Amino acid sequence: MNLSGDGSVDALDPVGQQPLDLSLLDSILDDFRGRPGVLIPILQRAQDAYGYLPREVLRVISQKMLIPLNHLYGVATFYAQFRLQRRGRHLIRICDGTACHVRGSGKSIEAIERSLRIAPGETSTDYRYTLEIVYCLGSCGLSPVAVVDDRVHAGLTPESLVQHLEKLE
Ligand code: FES
Repeated sequence: MNLSGDGSVDALDPVGQQPLDLSLLDSILDDFRGRPGVLIPILQRAQDAYGYLPREVLRVISQKMLIPLNHLYGVATFYAQFRLQRRGRHLIRICDGTACHVRGSGKSIEAIERSLRIAPGETSTDYRYTLEIVYCLGSCGLSPVAVVDDRVHAGLTPESLVQHLEKLE
């Protein structure tokens, strides 16, 4: 962490070691300053700006809004909508609920683990993919199902899924 001349905090993005632009927080925090009950919207806007909630971002919010850091972490870890880890550019959500499981979703999960070398819950080291397992996407009639970047893949096969993923940059 570096302190710049104006007292703002520079931190490094974990991937390319690019500095995080913490000045993005200024207008977000200005919009909410002095208003009660704004913690969730602040975290939502910060996550929209950075894609997740880096430690340094939470630290700046804590300092500037006078909110204890452990309270920020408590809220950010309580709500599933918040992410403390950076996601890959492509989010792969494979359903392994009952209907999808009996129709072979496990084979697609194994194929991804093998070909992309990531386990469920992980992000590839180049931040290209994040793999998540979910338990029913509400489309059991289309099973096995995956959602990749908001596009639904129905009647999944390991081959079709891996082929599609390999085309994504
Ligand atoms: S179990 Fe997979 S969509 Fe319902």
